[in-house]
Amino acid sequence: MSIYGDYIKSVIRTVPDWPQSGINFRDITPLLQNSSAFRKLIDSFVHRYQDMELDAIAAIDARGFIIGAPVAYELGCSFVPVRKKGKLPFRTISETYTLEYGKSEVELHSDAFQQGDRILIMDDLIATGGTMLAAARLITRSGGQVVETATIIDLPEIGGSRKIREAGFGVFAVCS
Ligand code: PRP
Ligand code: ADE
Repeated sequence: MSIYGDYIKSVIRTVPDWPQSGINFRDITPLLQNSSAFRKLIDSFVHRYQDMELDAIAAIDARGFIIGAPVAYELGCSFVPVRKKGKLPFRTISETYTLEYGKSEVELHSDAFQQGDRILIMDDLIATGGTMLAAARLITRSGGQVVETATIIDLPEIGGSRKIREAGFGVFAVCS
């Protein structure tokens, strides 16, 4: 958790029963509309990772891109998109996974990393952990070293962050 965790949490809106009954959707748009909150969020990630000698940030389509790009810019490392199926034009590798509300598949360009590159995976939220674990498998398969996984919001009651840690990857969440 970051020192700004409680503040960041206070500017995230929960929308009950969206996109389906029983889901409490964590809506980050109020956070993005608040320039001071967004700056504190990006600074929290930059502060944590500035001395970790990252080669690249792999950010997950689509909300992971919003945080991954400014952090890569600030750290001076590469930005690599992990995209939903069918969006990347070159040779890809892919992984399927299950979501809190459905199934999906993510892809990575096969030339996205050099062997041994130090990679941080970023996404906005961890629920079941399926998306983050699929991205971690893609990066491991392509020869990258997952330094950590980072997110704005962890939903620990769903158990995803525990699964990610049990699979051997660290998890940093700004709030939960
Ligand atoms: C959401 C969220 C994470 C994922 C988390 O993305 O942005 O990527 O679900 O869920 P999990 O931990 O259960 O895998 P979604 O697939 O809804 O796509 P979007 O970012 O395009 O809205
Ligand atoms: N992705 C998966 N579960 C979610 C939730 N509860 N809120 C926002 N995004 C999500």
